[in-house]
Order: sequence, then structure tokens, then C-alpha cells
Amino acid sequence: MNIILIGPPGVGKGTQAKFLVEAYNIPQISTGDMLRANVREATPLGTEAKKFMNAGQLVPDSVILGMMKSRFSEPDCDAGYILDGFPRTIPQAEGLEDLLNDMGQQIDSVLVLDVNHEEIIKRLSSRRSCKECDTVYNLLFDPTTSEGICDKCEGMLYQRDDDKPETIRQRLDVYTNQTSPLISFYTQKGLVKKINGAGKIDAVKKRMLSAL
Ligand code: AP5
Repeated sequence: MNIILIGPPGVGKGTQAKFLVEAYNIPQISTGDMLRANVREATPLGTEAKKFMNAGQLVPDSVILGMMKSRFSEPDCDAGYILDGFPRTIPQAEGLEDLLNDMGQQIDSVLVLDVNHEEIIKRLSSRRSCKECDTVYNLLFDPTTSEGICDKCEGMLYQRDDDKPETIRQRLDVYTNQTSPLISFYTQKGLVKKINGAGKIDAVKKRMLSAL
């Protein structure tokens, strides 16, 4: 099963992808997580990507497509994958088609999550992530048992640099202008299932699993 998750920043793509990993036993491939790992390790790719990410802009398509080509070649992708945050532009979607053709694969479903902007700003302003294991929490909706400490590994929680209010607004504009055209692109191919991302995490999970 090859699934694409599309939706504005903070809609819950990463949160819901974890449930799909459990349900289908296939990996989540998050370009955002891959880029953040490169930033943390100060690789040349991470140094290049950081300035775009902190400004709420997209990292250039050529960088992303190169990174994905190498990720698809890893053996855990053989049984399928959940693409979280990729593709993000029409050129990336076309590049993905070329990569899939080369691998003799296709996309089975494109899940489009949506929720209103007010809720997105609330979710992102209160998101916290673990510095050690990257588990994502929310101060309002999904808190840890001990304040500031990861429930899974006891790592310290931090707030992402791009979750500042002005950067969130920029990321929402980028989504509207550059990413949302993908919904028509994949609707024309008959692959889109729209999911209401509002409400509790578990309610969205049920909608998503039943849509598949
Ligand atoms: P990326 O990391 O992909 O960020 P994003 O798409 O903006 O998505 P987020 O991770 O912010 O949100 P999410 O939808 O996963 O929400 P989450 O589940 O965490 O990209 C970051 C940057 O990297 C980009 O801006 C760009 O610069 C670059 N980049 C990445 N991919 C790229 C690409 N392909 N091309 C070019 N550049 C790229 O949930 C958010 C919060 O809400 C959490 O705290 C969660 O606990 C909470 N929550 C989730 N669901 C609910 C719910 N139902 N109710 C209440 N709270 C909820």
C-alpha cells in the first residue's frame, strides 16, 4: 500500500501517519523529519535546508527529489510507505511519478486532511517534540505526564523553530499557493479521499482508517 498524506501544516499528518504505520506495517516517510535530522547533524543538506525551513519556505524541489530517490531505495520501502509531507509541489508530484515508474510502482491512495486555520494555529503554537526520539505532543490536546519530559524516553521537549506565529502564517500561505494544487492533480487521477481533520485525534484516526 502506497499512501500520500496531504494537508496544511499542523493538520495532524504526522500524528495520523503513526496510526497508519501500525495498521499497515509500512514506514512513514516524512520529508520534514528527514530534513530536521539533517539540520541536527549539520550535514551540507541540512545547512542548505535550514534557511528555507526557518523562513517557512519550501526547500528546493531538486534537493527533496534527490533525498527521496535515495530513501525509496532502502529495503523497508519494498512493502509500501506513507508519504507525509511529500510531494509538496506539482514538480515534486511529477518527479515522484518518474521515480515510481522507474520502480514499477504506483500510488494507491491520497488522503487529504483539512481543518480551519484558527485550529491549526492553536495546534502548532502548543506543539512540543522530544529532542531525543522526535515523539510529538501537544500542551493542550496531547500532553506528557510530566511537564517538559517525553513519556517514552524521558528526553527534553522543545518547540520547533518554525512554529512561531509569523512563520506559521507564512507556511499556511505556502500551502495554499504551492501545495493545495496537488489536490486537483490527484483528484484527476481518482486517488483523493478527503478527511475532516477536526475533533479529537482518535476520531480523526477512525475517519481515516475507514476511508482506506
Ligand atoms: P513538515 O515537518 O512536513 O511540516 P508541515 O507539513 O508544516 O507539517 P507539520 O509537521 O507542522 O504538521 P503535521 O500535519 O504533521 O501535524 P502534527 O501531526 O505534528 O515540514 C517542515 C518544513 O520542512 C517545511 O516548512 C519546509 O520548509 C520543509 N519541507 C518538508 N517537506 C518538504 C517538501 N516535500 N518540499 C519542500 N520543503 C519541505 O500535529 C500538530 C500538533 O497538533 C501536534 O502537537 C499534535 O499533537 C496536535 N494534533 C494532531 N491532531 C490533533 C487533533 N485531532 N486534535 C488536537 N490536536 C491534534
